[in-house]
Amino acid sequence: MTERSTPPGTEPAIRRWSHRDARPIGALWFDAYMREPDRGGGLIPNARSSLVDWIRDRERDRSNFGYVAESGDVLVGFLLGRIGVWDFEPPILRPRKLSRIDAVFVVESVRRLGVATALVETAVQHARAAGAAGVEAVFETDNPAAEALWRKRGFVAGVARAYRSLRP
Ligand SMILES: CC(C)(COP(=O)(O)OP(=O)(O)OC[C@H]1O[C@@H](n2cnc3c(N)ncnc32)[C@H](O)[C@@H]1OP(=O)(O)O)[C@@H](O)C(=O)NCCC(=O)NCCS
Repeated sequence: MTERSTPPGTEPAIRRWSHRDARPIGALWFDAYMREPDRGGGLIPNARSSLVDWIRDRERDRSNFGYVAESGDVLVGFLLGRIGVWDFEPPILRPRKLSRIDAVFVVESVRRLGVATALVETAVQHARAAGAAGVEAVFETDNPAAEALWRKRGFVAGVARAYRSLRP
């Protein structure tokens, strides 16, 4: 586990991500993923390095954005989002420019200190400045921390996706 703690008295600072953040973001995300019960069909070979490569590719694509929380030079949280003009199905609604936040993560040692709140509010400002009509967040409904975070930030849950496993 690569989780690091914050030196006492230092408040995490939020900044826009850069390509150098792909590796530490990947490390935090992969470790968190490994602690989750397996919901899929297992990991691909080289999953850890593939995750870092994917984050790097995302960082190069200008429709994506990311912010990190740093304490000193230690990365203690991240948020990944994107902005795009989404088509709707069936295609009878006017396409709208929207932002989607795909992931927010804060290391355990600095949770409940407002770090995710600061990341989310920075992302919302980013989306507003980019002309998005709204921001969508994706989270698992059995995650009370995520549910409470989004609700508190003014996100109203509207669509649920349900899953039924066909494995014994
Ligand atoms: C969810 C997560 C990002 C919250 O980060 P955080 O920095 O602790 O969040 P904040 O301190 O900004 O909390 C904001 C509000 O969210 C709610 N909240 C956060 N963690 C909570 C928890 N464990 N239980 C209940 N509510 C919680 C609270 O309402 C909190 O406000 P309060 O502390 O004034 O009561 C963090 O727990 C995390 O990284 N979890 C693992 C990854 C994850 O689940 N990500 C979300 C899915 S995208």
